[in-house]
Amino acid sequence: MSDLKAIVVNHPLIQHKLTIMRKKETSSKDFRQLLEEIAMLMTYEVTRDFPLKEIDIETPVAKCKAKVLAGKKVGVVPILRAGLGLLNGVVNMIPSARVGHVGMYRDPETLKPVEYYCKLPGDVAERTLIVVDPMLATGGSSAAALSLLKEKGAKNIVLMCLVAAPEGIKVINEEHPDVPVYVAAIDECLNEHGYIVPGLGDAGDRIFGTL
Ligand code: PRP
Ligand code: URA
Repeated sequence: MSDLKAIVVNHPLIQHKLTIMRKKETSSKDFRQLLEEIAMLMTYEVTRDFPLKEIDIETPVAKCKAKVLAGKKVGVVPILRAGLGLLNGVVNMIPSARVGHVGMYRDPETLKPVEYYCKLPGDVAERTLIVVDPMLATGGSSAAALSLLKEKGAKNIVLMCLVAAPEGIKVINEEHPDVPVYVAAIDECLNEHGYIVPGLGDAGDRIFGTL
């Protein structure tokens, strides 16, 4: 596992919340809430190196120079459906973010990703895009979404996932070596159905109560 390149955001609050999410008895309501909270905490780390610029402002006391995020507004791109569970958390932290959507589901037989929707903000080439999906299993869905975004012109992309299998990280590292991968946990492996072990089950079904 040592040759995998991923940034594991293992803050104690994130680990605690993720443990509750993993439990099979956790309700959809709590699952959604915890996912949003973790997304907020992970955004703090994902944005750590975002460039700043100085602007002139006036406080009630004095004029001064102060820092704001530089460049075009960040784009957040959830991979539908389960990526929607992370969206509000990121947008709570970056309220000016533009939001794009990529629809991608995994064929249950072949485990291959099937694209069904794509709507992105303008000027993707000039924005940093944070692609969000809670699960990085075989890596097929995220890899396909990243390829699609690059076809549309995106140049600066970060992938943020909750739980990853080593297999999925390897695929992203190989197919998209330019994309940093942020995860809250790297689990053991995939099972014969392509589910992450121990994982948390089907993230989309748990978020939307479609089990
Ligand atoms: C889940 C998850 C990822 C994908 C991960 O989506 O949200 O997009 O599986 O698997 P992979 O790494 O093997 O591609 P799913 O296909 O269940 O669709 P949903 O989000 O619409 O439920
Ligand atoms: N998709 C999920 O939602 N969960 C997994 O464990 C694998 C893929």
